[in-house]
Formats: sequence, C-alpha cells, structure tokens
Amino acid sequence: MKLLVIGSGGREHALVWKLAQSPRVSRLWCAPGNAGTQGEPLAAGGIAENVAIGAEDLVSLLAFARKQCPDLTVVGPDGALALGVVDAFQAEGFPIWGPRKAAARFEFSKAFSQEFMRQHGIPTARSGTFTDPASARLFAQQLGGRCVVKADGLALGKGVIMARDAREAESAIQRMLVDRMFGEASREVVIQEWIEGTEISLHALCDGSHFQILPSSQDHKRVGDGDLGPNTGGMGTYSPTPFLSSSEWEKMAHEVLEPWLAGCQAEGIDFRGLIYPGVMLTADGPRVLEFNARWGDPETQVYLPRLENDLVEIFLACINGTLDQHPLRWFPLHTVCVVLASHGYPGAVERGKVIHGLADVAPLAQVKVFHAGTTRFNEEVVTSGGRVLGVTAWDTSLGAARDRAYAAADRLCFEGMQFRRDIAARGLAFAPTV
Ligand code: AMP
Ligand code: GLY
Repeated sequence: MKLLVIGSGGREHALVWKLAQSPRVSRLWCAPGNAGTQGEPLAAGGIAENVAIGAEDLVSLLAFARKQCPDLTVVGPDGALALGVVDAFQAEGFPIWGPRKAAARFEFSKAFSQEFMRQHGIPTARSGTFTDPASARLFAQQLGGRCVVKADGLALGKGVIMARDAREAESAIQRMLVDRMFGEASREVVIQEWIEGTEISLHALCDGSHFQILPSSQDHKRVGDGDLGPNTGGMGTYSPTPFLSSSEWEKMAHEVLEPWLAGCQAEGIDFRGLIYPGVMLTADGPRVLEFNARWGDPETQVYLPRLENDLVEIFLACINGTLDQHPLRWFPLHTVCVVLASHGYPGAVERGKVIHGLADVAPLAQVKVFHAGTTRFNEEVVTSGGRVLGVTAWDTSLGAARDRAYAAADRLCFEGMQFRRDIAARGLAFAPTV
C-alpha cells in the first residue's frame, strides 16, 4: 500500500514511524515532514520520503494524490482538518483517515463544543458563550472574576487566557472581543469557570458508530518545571498515569464518550478519526475542558510505542466502520516523552541551530527520538521550530522509562536547548513503585 501522512511535527514522525512498521506499506510519504520522517525505514523495505508540500496546501496535496494515488492518507494537524482536507480527498475518491470538516468542528469551534456538551450531558465546566463584551463581563463577575477566557476558533494553541481575578478577566475580554487579538477566531469567546484538578488526556478512536479508548496519558502544558510559566503545545508526556486504575480509567472515559457518541449520532455527525477530550479530574468526577479532533502532540509519541496492532489496519477500520472488530492491544510498558525545545519557546525562537548527539542516541535500546521542528541543512540536522525533538523511551516501570528518556536527552544538545526536568514526576510521586 502507498501511504501519505500530512503534517510535520513530532506527532507525525511518530505516526510515520509506526505506520512504517506495517508489512503492508510499500511507499510512505510525509507532507511536508521533518528531518526525522525523511528516511524512516519501512518494514517492507525502502524508506519514508518527505514531499515539500505544506499541510494546509490543499491544492498541492490533491495534485500529489492524483499523481501518486495513495491507498491511504492520514491527517495529523487540526489546521488541515479545519480546512476540509478529508472532504476534499473523499470527493475525489482517495481514502483518507480523519474527521470531515463538519466533525472536526469539535476542535475548531469551542462555542459549538460547549453547546454540544450542554445538550448531551457531557460533564464540563460551568460556562457561557459571548460575542457581546458587556454580557461576557457580567458572566465573568458571576464566576467571581477567576475564570478562563477562550477564543472560539483556532488560535495556534494560544487562544486561552487564564484570568486569576476580575481585572485579568476584564483585560482578556477586552483583548479578545474588542481588540480582536485573534481576528475572527475571537469574534466569539467561551468563558469557563476555572477548574482545579489533575489534567489528563483522553484519546479514543472512532469509526462513526463505535469508539475504542486508548490508555491514559498526561501532558505537561507549562513551559517550566513545577508547572510554572506560560502554556505551550506540550513539553512532555507519559503513559499510563498511575492516578487511576485501568477500570477507573475506562469508567471515566465512558462517562465522557458514551454521551459524546450518542450526541454525534443524534446530530448526524459522522466522526471517523480520533477524538481527544482534554479532561480535568476533580473531586466531583471528570470535567471536559475542550475537544480536539486529532492525536495529541506529544501524546502520540507515548501511545504508539505501546500499541501492538498494525496501525494501518486500525485506520482502515475507522474509515470502514469496523473498529469494533479490531480490539486495540497494548504492550504492558510505560512510556515517557521529554520535549527538547528552542530558547524562547513558546514565544519567538531562533532557528538553524545545529543539533548534536543524534547519532550517539540512535543505537540506544528502548529509546526513539521523534523529530518535530527539525530540518536538514548542509548534511546537518538543524532546528526549525519551537518544539524540536521528543525523546521517548519505554520500559517495564515508569521510573525506568523516565531514566532512559533523560539519559538520552542528556546526550543531545543544540544552542539554547531547554526542557523540563520533571516529566512524569507527578505520576512517580503518586506511585513510586510503578
Ligand atoms: P484548552 O486549549 O481549552 O485545552 O486550554 C489550554 C489549557 O488551559 C488546558 O490544557 C488547561 O491546562 C487550561 N484550562 C483550560 N480550561 C480550563 C478550565 N476551565 N479550568 C482550568 N484550566 C483550564
Ligand atoms: N498535547 C496537547 C495537544 O496536542 O493539544
């Protein structure tokens, strides 16, 4: 089979790496990919190849599909989904994995998701949706000032402002609704009560009629150790989380996903792809903070090394509506991913820094370095973005996986490299023996 993966981050490198292990894959392209996706060996022989087409360049992606006729295309990022890449490929008969635009709305409209949760009884935060600044201010006051103000649309992961008091809420409302800091994406805002708890990532594959949950994982959103500093795309992950037993995890997931799937069916939303609700575990049960309609990054990096199934089969089952016939099987391993980021991330970063140590780390057992913002320049691998590498390791205990990941991270360097030293610390503190 010929496969095309769309995207260029760590998530897409992990997808390429896992798909390349399928004996069914004879060609594998990544558009545009990064320095890690290029050359990833295929189990069937040959290597994965990058194609210089941006993930949101639908015209060129379609032209490529017409020429190469991929048997399966897999979409990584939300931007391409929001543009309707799935609809466009399907219209021309190219099999593609991911939700259509109407179903991807869970991610690109927070107002839609919030209303959906209200209507279908999905546990969430107390919230309201506003276009009028005065009504927004009034609601923020009713919440005591401490609240979370979210732009309705996609805002490059920056559209969420955590307001600690009434003054910060007022300023967030002003910037989003009046000054339009995110343009059209902040024409409407969702304001939620600020929920305290433990944040976890729930992922489920869905074929329109059935879902299958993935194991638990936890991301580290803040840039600094101890969860300090600004929010990022994610600085590291581990799976599973020891806070919940697997039966508690399943119970919690079903509490969220059963009403979600029933709601989709009631509203005629045919969701085929991966749904990723961001969940806060509270003393009163789970609360969904938002939905993503794609794999998490860097959650993918800790899931795929644990997945035993052939991912091609699973993606085809999602497309064909037969996911119930393909139970997911997981290796009994713990995985940890530590993100190495550029100086300045999540703000502006310098690019083009040479990355040292990749060849040194490549032979390490139970370690895989997933590339994100990397590119090749004059025979060297250099940085090309904020999140640069996701150093991922697996082992039979969380502590051993963590130690392996950090031992590998310590052998890598580039100018301005920063990373968190406490990935998985919360899990280890909870259950030091796992
Ligand atoms: P979102 O893009 O909606 O997931 O928000 C980004 C991050 O902001 C989340 O991962 C949480 O850490 C935090 N956050 C969002 N909504 C809330 C909330 N209602 N209460 C507390 N933290 C939140
Ligand atoms: N891990 C955060 C995200 O993928 O949105």
